[in-house]
Amino acid sequence: MTQAAMRPEAPRLEGSKPAPGSAAEPRPGRQPASGSTAAAGAWPGRPPGLPGAVPPPSVPLAFLAAASLGLAACGAAWVWARGWAGSDPSADPVVAAVHLGVLATLATGVLGAVHQFTPVITGRPLRSVILARMVFVTWLGASWLLPFGLATEQVAVTAVSGALAGLSIVLLAVNLAAPLSVRGKGTPVTALRLGLAGAVATSFLGVAFVGDRQGGWFVLSGHVDLAMGVLGLFGWLGLTYVGVAEKLWPMFLLAHLPGRHRSGRVAVWCLAGGVALASPALAWSADGLAWVGGAVAAVGLGAHLVSLAVHVRHRRRAVDLHLVFVLTAAAWVPVGVGLALAAALVVPRHHHVGVALAAAALAAFGAWLLEALVGHAHKVVPFILWSALRSRGVATGPTGRPLLFADLYDHRWAAAAYGTLTCGVAALCAGLGASAPPLVAAGGVLFVATGLIVGANLSLVPVRLLGRAAASARMPAAGPGTGTEGIVS
Ligand code: HEM
Repeated sequence: MTQAAMRPEAPRLEGSKPAPGSAAEPRPGRQPASGSTAAAGAWPGRPPGLPGAVPPPSVPLAFLAAASLGLAACGAAWVWARGWAGSDPSADPVVAAVHLGVLATLATGVLGAVHQFTPVITGRPLRSVILARMVFVTWLGASWLLPFGLATEQVAVTAVSGALAGLSIVLLAVNLAAPLSVRGKGTPVTALRLGLAGAVATSFLGVAFVGDRQGGWFVLSGHVDLAMGVLGLFGWLGLTYVGVAEKLWPMFLLAHLPGRHRSGRVAVWCLAGGVALASPALAWSADGLAWVGGAVAAVGLGAHLVSLAVHVRHRRRAVDLHLVFVLTAAAWVPVGVGLALAAALVVPRHHHVGVALAAAALAAFGAWLLEALVGHAHKVVPFILWSALRSRGVATGPTGRPLLFADLYDHRWAAAAYGTLTCGVAALCAGLGASAPPLVAAGGVLFVATGLIVGANLSLVPVRLLGRAAASARMPAAGPGTGTEGIVS
């Protein structure tokens, strides 16, 4: 491995601008060429060099910022629901905490990533930026109102949240249909399409659940709830992550895989096939089919881990926090599989213990996605912000050197977020599995800390740099010693 390859900065992402200071770097402050603004999906103020398909930074960043607040709210909800979590994991306060986790945090973060990466991967813009903003507003409403309605037992509020969730996912499908109809882009696009189908199926199952709260149309047993958990976690969120990771890992790990590797493809198809079998089988208590579906999905998860191992073996980037996050996320997969197996074996004999183990298994799979989301956010958010800052004339970082992605957050706080998140998910998983309210509460407190740390850490430096740039623009004649050096207005 060469020294240059192990340099910590300047990850060159597909669709990104040239490294700062390079000969190919456009002069800061210049407006994009008129040809690029005329391209489909163009928006005012697009930084020079950014491909025409990429949406404005505010689209993915709004989702990702909301996800960090969602994590803090989810933590607070787990603290409140800790007593019920120990005695009855299907009590409404627990369902509310679960949905602040899966909808207001995980799904919101995944939607942000999907809005950013669908155009990058397909090379085609979203149908409309306005539709993307409508998806954000309706999803924000759905994902916060559902837990609020469940926690306060207001069925009208849950009904509104169901309507918003259904509307949001329809708008999402309309917006993504055009770019996802592209041909020949391989596994990541297949996964995005299947993930979108999973999003539609999960949301309309959720709408049916919410409807049931109004009229009590059908019996919602634990099996049916589990079917929703499997569909949402694996058929939507997991599938999307498994597919997009096949595109992100080569870029973020600087990994060029020699020859053909099928593990990513196997991961996507087996996970999708396993969910398609297991989810309805759980809903209708067809135990044999549920085992087959679970086994097929486990093969998919195994292939995902094999693909990660191959990428890690061929990487040219030194170990960094992103890799630690990704490996820790992956370690939750075997933990989840083990807990799910234990739950399936124990539940016929000791119902309460089996249900607690099933809740812990879902928490472990949620931990897989959450660690991956937070780890990738520390790469993706600075990448998006870097282009936006450069286009606003910010040429240097806080130390006065040319602006790098790595300058855009504090690395000690990022490490702290890794610690609080990893301890938090471990505490929640153990607390649910052992029916121990203090551990559930500890997990909740650590989630609050993580949400606040990540949100503040990824936004404060860019906001400060923007403030400096704005001050510099107001004082064009500012001379040396004013603190505005290096900022090009
Ligand atoms: C990623 C997406 C989703 C996942 C992973 C998920 C997961 C779950 C799980 C695990 C439960 C059982 C919770 C427990 O018993 O403690 C549940 C129940 C429930 N979910 Fe979801 N869910 C998702 C999306 C939605 C959506 C979009 C809605 C509606 C807008 C919804 C509405 C409900 C309702 C109303 C219940 C309670 C059902 C009952 O009364 O037993 N969910 N979900």
